[in-house]
Amino acid sequence: MEHSLKAIPDYNSRIHPNCFQDFQSRFASSLTVSSDSNVMIIPSFVDVHVHLREPGFFYKETIKTGAQAAAKSGYSHIFSMPNLKPVPDSYEHLKEQLDIIKRDARINVLPYGSITVGEKGQVLSDLAAMAPYVVGFSDDGIGLNDEDLMRKAMITAKSLGLPIVAHCEDMSLRAGGYIHDGSYAKAHGHKGICSESEWQPIARDLRLAAETGCSYHVCHISTKESVDLIRKAKAAGMDVTCETAPHYLILTDEDLQEDGRFKMNPPIRSRADREALLEGLSDGAIDMIATDHAPHSAEEKSRGLKDSAMGITGLETAFPMVYTKLVRTGILTMEQIIRLMSENPRKRFHLPPAEESMDYAVWELSASYTINPDTFVSLGKATPFAGEQVYGRCLLNVVSGQPVWKGEAK
Ligand code: DOR
Repeated sequence: MEHSLKAIPDYNSRIHPNCFQDFQSRFASSLTVSSDSNVMIIPSFVDVHVHLREPGFFYKETIKTGAQAAAKSGYSHIFSMPNLKPVPDSYEHLKEQLDIIKRDARINVLPYGSITVGEKGQVLSDLAAMAPYVVGFSDDGIGLNDEDLMRKAMITAKSLGLPIVAHCEDMSLRAGGYIHDGSYAKAHGHKGICSESEWQPIARDLRLAAETGCSYHVCHISTKESVDLIRKAKAAGMDVTCETAPHYLILTDEDLQEDGRFKMNPPIRSRADREALLEGLSDGAIDMIATDHAPHSAEEKSRGLKDSAMGITGLETAFPMVYTKLVRTGILTMEQIIRLMSENPRKRFHLPPAEESMDYAVWELSASYTINPDTFVSLGKATPFAGEQVYGRCLLNVVSGQPVWKGEAK
């Protein structure tokens, strides 16, 4: 038996009464689900870490397809990383991206400016010229190993009132590695990436952030040492936040397969790292779950663990995987997920609360299906979660009061 969502019980709403009223008056009667469905209305998500590949690499993803994938997956805002061509390191280069966003994006796409020219780690980008148009500065994809340059970047970013959003990696420690330097790498003769390559630059940056007073956010943390360092910095009162991603929370290197869809940077780490990340989410050491949506072509991901490009598609699997593997199993609550995927990123990056911008999404939590990359809107199809049986389908996503996605209840 089908029934209209007009009759949805109040207790399944986790949104502000204003949004709920908007939903009831404009959309509820046109959405139907079966009478035993579990439906929940929640604030739309904000993903502070996605790669949209345009300008420069549109064969991997475009701003249009990436934003559509996000709209379908309950996001109102996605922040685009600057490893593009041209790299947004000046207003002129950034403008190419801004123009495409304006033309093609149905949800809010907010770009980062690069910290250094061409993300080459040698000369500071024109941070001041980009400041009015970006959410922060990042050289994501590459660690900025020059300490003096990072100090200068932090001083300038602070003067502009924007955060440094750091990809922390000591490039000299990568040394040809491509998966976690753990049991799987040893057993299968792969070159590992050690944990120090992530946490040592974090330790250095925290020292610089304390010295300069810069607002500092760490991208995609994956190691237990990183969690400890950030927890301590917060306890010391520093203006620091960080994100992790679903794959680090759900998988360990024991789950790796000889397939490029298990390859990303930083890599999926050990069981102890996963446990520390989950603890960090619960005690507030980690502020948010981002996807690090990093699409590549089928060919680029077809070369096995060693030679495939680093990065996996993430937007269309994030909530169903987190909900199925972490909420339904009792590890995290729905309230925590809403904080981690919507409220905290909004606060950190000074976006209005979801109820002010009228951003909300309706999820059929009881909808169960198998993750099939052929159904993705994103051009990136490589995911370690292919074939997983999950719960959670987005029936409606309203962004700035406009419906940007209407899905089918099945
Ligand atoms: O796996 C990754 N892919 N990690 C990064 O830091 C960059 C990203 C990409 O751009 O493909």
